Amino acid sequence: MVTYRSTMVERIDLPSRETRERRLEEAGYNVFNLAAADVFVDLLTDSGTGTMSNDQWAALIRGDESYAGSRSFERLESAVEEVMGFPRVVPAHQGRGAENVLYGTLLEEGDVVLNNTHFDTTRAHVANQGADPVDCPVDAAFDLESAGADAGTGADSDTDTNPHEFAGNFSLERARAVVDDVGEGAVSVVIQTITNNSAAGQPVSVENTCRVRRFADEIDATFVIDACRFAENAAFVRERENEFSDASIDEIAREQLGYADAVVMSGKKDGLANIGGFVATTDRDLLAECKQRAILYEGFPTYGGMAGRDMEAMAVGLREAVEDAYATDRIEQVRTFGRLLEDAGVPIYTPVGGHAVYLDAAAALPHVPSAEFPGQALVCELYREGGVRGVELGSFAFPDTDRPELVRLALPRRTYHRDHLEHVAETARAVLEKREAVSGLELASEPSIPELRHFTAELRPVSR
Ligand code: F0G
Repeated sequence: MVTYRSTMVERIDLPSRETRERRLEEAGYNVFNLAAADVFVDLLTDSGTGTMSNDQWAALIRGDESYAGSRSFERLESAVEEVMGFPRVVPAHQGRGAENVLYGTLLEEGDVVLNNTHFDTTRAHVANQGADPVDCPVDAAFDLESAGADAGTGADSDTDTNPHEFAGNFSLERARAVVDDVGEGAVSVVIQTITNNSAAGQPVSVENTCRVRRFADEIDATFVIDACRFAENAAFVRERENEFSDASIDEIAREQLGYADAVVMSGKKDGLANIGGFVATTDRDLLAECKQRAILYEGFPTYGGMAGRDMEAMAVGLREAVEDAYATDRIEQVRTFGRLLEDAGVPIYTPVGGHAVYLDAAAALPHVPSAEFPGQALVCELYREGGVRGVELGSFAFPDTDRPELVRLALPRRTYHRDHLEHVAETARAVLEKREAVSGLELASEPSIPELRHFTAELRPVSR
């Protein structure tokens, strides 16, 4: 059992309804354009928005800001080795910086990259190298209809376990179909993202990781784990994979990560830090090449875009993230949030994943057609009704795909309390009670890159 008491507080205010209406309009019905001060409960992301512990703040003071050979780097390297099992680290300013370093080193034009599901920045970095990112999720990943049902049977050929318990898994069946199509030589890198952020934060089993390792060996590809939320994933493994029911979170983490040739990490998630990231690998040649690219894009390889004090905070954060009580409490809080929303009659993706609850906007606003962005309409109403900020991950964020109309409400780590979660659930209930009055949205202006439109595009309500 673990809980936290606040030793520092930040006041937050709920702006008046009138102010919220005005801000929403000024923001072009895009909550990325809102000032944080106008948001009451901010669930836009769990990335870099969590609360550091007093031990992390204390560690900041030790920051060694030396350009080369910083002691803070040594402490980060020791923490990564102890917690994740990788002795060598190339730091970066955040996860996407690490992706640039690693994928810029590993990939060549025309390569094919397989991933359970590419997170947006991963997809962009793979594509930026002229390579082709292909997703290989299991069928359960986007099966919103039956996910909540008791799916005790129906194991597919990819796994021995209940497919909905590890809906984040990598589908070897799909991967083999791609290899049959493009040829073994074309696939140079296989990635597994744990938890699978783009598939509702669903976990990945160790068994699946082990199988992907064997598959990568068969086709002679490098196996990378995107480890952003590795500790949350380990908490699910302990709960759901019998073999690990008595293991500690850090034992599970090392076992799972140990199958990979390299890990790419955003310290803004399970590093429990506000900024930072890294690549870690057991391969000396790969390490040497990553260091070269890191110098070009991030900084000298003993700081890589991070201040010494940030490396200190992450070193402590990584150790805290694998404390059994922390990791269990983390996924439990997200699950509690899911239950509160369900009790308020809100349709959600179940089972709830690691870092966020995903709302099913198509079910919540059935009268708003996909072309009018039901997810974005719901995001706007949550802000209008209760000052809550979430993010749309449906037809607005992913144009021309058949992704379900999801809205993500991500919980920053160790930040909000039950009364905040109850406020969000009550807000969602109030929105659904007057759902008929909610209108769809249409684009008012669009940026040049369609893949990035949800960050800056402006919208307006569809007039009838
Ligand atoms: N990989 C995954 C799975 C992620 O979720 C993220 C970031 C990154 C890589 C990139 O890391 O932000 O430090 O550069 N996800 C955040 C989110 C932005 O809101 O889900 P970064």
